Amino acid sequence: MGNTMIKRGAEATITRGEWHGRDVVFKKRSPKSYRVESLDMMLRTSRTKKEASLLSEAKQYGIATPIVYDIDVSNFIMVMEYIDGDLAKILLQDLDDRYELAETIGRSVGLLHKNDIIHGDLTTSNIIFRDGTAYFIDFGLGEKSCEPEKKGVDLHLLKEAIDSAHSEFPELFDSISKGYLGVYEDGQKILAIVKNIEKRGRYS
Ligand SMILES: Nc1ncnc2c1ncn2[C@@H]1O[C@H](COP(=O)(O)OP(=O)(O)OP(=O)(O)O)[C@@H](O)[C@H]1O
Ligand SMILES: [Mg+2]
Repeated sequence: MGNTMIKRGAEATITRGEWHGRDVVFKKRSPKSYRVESLDMMLRTSRTKKEASLLSEAKQYGIATPIVYDIDVSNFIMVMEYIDGDLAKILLQDLDDRYELAETIGRSVGLLHKNDIIHGDLTTSNIIFRDGTAYFIDFGLGEKSCEPEKKGVDLHLLKEAIDSAHSEFPELFDSISKGYLGVYEDGQKILAIVKNIEKRGRYS
């Protein structure tokens, strides 16, 4: 089987192929010509390493993520399990049980934050549903932090993504919040920060 390109994203080229008999995705971070080369290489190296380690760590806490099979840091490549599913972005728009899916997403984000993992790019293109399970990808901008403000910013990004991509369903974030609060005892505090960030946005 040959490799097929899935996506040339903002940051990386994603191809699907076979690796030691497994169905995988190769994520190769491409150079950015507007960055000084040494800095560009440093960023691509650190994001490749960070992404692999956060994917693995999140999985240990019960958040579904693709298995990381290999990283080739000198070529900025990560090899991971191919998740044969559908992007949350599509399903939240098309499926009748969208509020259940949203609650599922909220629970996983709650688990991430409870365990001090900031995703860094929480959008519905970075969540893939397979058999009703939400798989989280694209942790290259993530970090470990216990700071409530960072969790608030993370969750606020998801709210903005949901409100803009699915404006016909303004209650989706309520379902996200329900899932989030269900697993994360300090969740209320983070939701208050989200509200606060929205207020700041409106008046600035
Ligand atoms: N493990 C995977 N299994 C299936 N599809 C994947 C996987 N990883 C990535 N994809 C697909 O490739 C797309 C881009 O992947 P990813 O978000 O990791 O790269 P990116 O360069 O950061 O892209 P973007 O700039 O769009 O965020 C995803 O939205 C998804 O459709
Ligand atoms: Mg992405």
